[in-house]
Amino acid sequence: MRAKRTGVRHGDGVDGGESLDDVDDSDDDDSVQTDNLSDYDNEDSSSDFHVETIDLSSGIESRPDNRPHIPVMLEETLGLLNLQPGKTYVDATAGAGGHLLRIASDTGSTSTVYGIDRDLSAIERLQGLVPDNVKLIHSNYSEIREKLNELGVHTIDGGIMADLGVSSMQLDEAHRGFSFMRNGPLDMRMDQSRGETAENLLNTIDERDLADIIFRYGEERFARRIARDIVQHRPIKTTGQLSAIVANTLRKSQKPKYKRDHGEASKHPATRTFQAIRIAVNQELQCLEKFLEDALSMLAPGGRLVVLTFHSLEDRLVKQFLRSAAMSCVCPPRQPLCTCNKKSQLLIITRKPLVAGAEEVLANVRSRSAKLRAGQKLD
Ligand SMILES: C[S@@+](CC[C@H](N)C(=O)[O-])C[C@H]1O[C@@H](n2cnc3c(N)ncnc32)[C@H](O)[C@@H]1O
Repeated sequence: MRAKRTGVRHGDGVDGGESLDDVDDSDDDDSVQTDNLSDYDNEDSSSDFHVETIDLSSGIESRPDNRPHIPVMLEETLGLLNLQPGKTYVDATAGAGGHLLRIASDTGSTSTVYGIDRDLSAIERLQGLVPDNVKLIHSNYSEIREKLNELGVHTIDGGIMADLGVSSMQLDEAHRGFSFMRNGPLDMRMDQSRGETAENLLNTIDERDLADIIFRYGEERFARRIARDIVQHRPIKTTGQLSAIVANTLRKSQKPKYKRDHGEASKHPATRTFQAIRIAVNQELQCLEKFLEDALSMLAPGGRLVVLTFHSLEDRLVKQFLRSAAMSCVCPPRQPLCTCNKKSQLLIITRKPLVAGAEEVLANVRSRSAKLRAGQKLD
């Protein structure tokens, strides 16, 4: 059953619209990720959607402009990594190299820096740009341990970072299928060499499981209606088709007052659904869980783990992981003597997550939802 494979479960609130409580993050600090759709913030959003008139025959568009990917919270991330010459670092989401190249230049030629990305085109773009002490690895970061072990690397004494989500290049390239504004094939795989495409998922999945994905990963209250309409319009082959179906469903479902009150008026209606499907296709939360475990286990004492998230599901996972790794005893509170023998593995450096400053948010809208958390491996 797909719900198991994608790690989702039925949410009672789907399309009842009554409650999204079980996906709400009752965080100490949810002021920033309330709009958890920042991977799509760079997409042109207009309330003037031409959903019926999308030309689905237009095929793959070329990239409309060459906006560079601007690294988010760069200085803060580097500061938390506590960069030092001669040490080993891993950027598990190399992307356009924004963080990676700075780690390499700030630590100098005596350091070794591994840059991982599951997107081969990101790795290929970086080849030729990086200095000799940077080693690029085409891999999912969930395989960080296996891939580094293959290279004879068993511990990382400097730090490991990840800047989650999609890059601007992935969003901008219509043929990758991430964008609801650029018509292209429904792919959405960050690693195009393996895994199921969004097209395959959408055209084969059970309607109920699809509603679950859209509800859980997109926090979309009209998930059930959207899933029903998607299933009715199968086969779906392009992002334009999907985007038009979702926009039509929401146009019928969302009252103008609801859109205004929930800040939806300026968002493209397909934003949440696209995010949800992308997360499911790439199994993003499952990969993140494995990455966190393996990254922590590879760090030498004093090494830092630094993670930048862009939506509340990711951030909650990172927060809970850090808390659990920092805990020293998990015995029941009334038990007089500790029998669990759990040792704290990590010191949390960011009691609350760091967020981007107003200037950065103005310059780069993607930074609006960023949360940065870090911990230091203990002896
Ligand atoms: C937000 S971008 C990183 C941008 C980079 N920090 C920069 O400043 O240029 C995220 C990158 O992580 C990659 N990525 C996402 N999930 C991944 C995973 N599970 N394993 C490896 N790379 C992943 C994506 O392909 C994308 O290139």
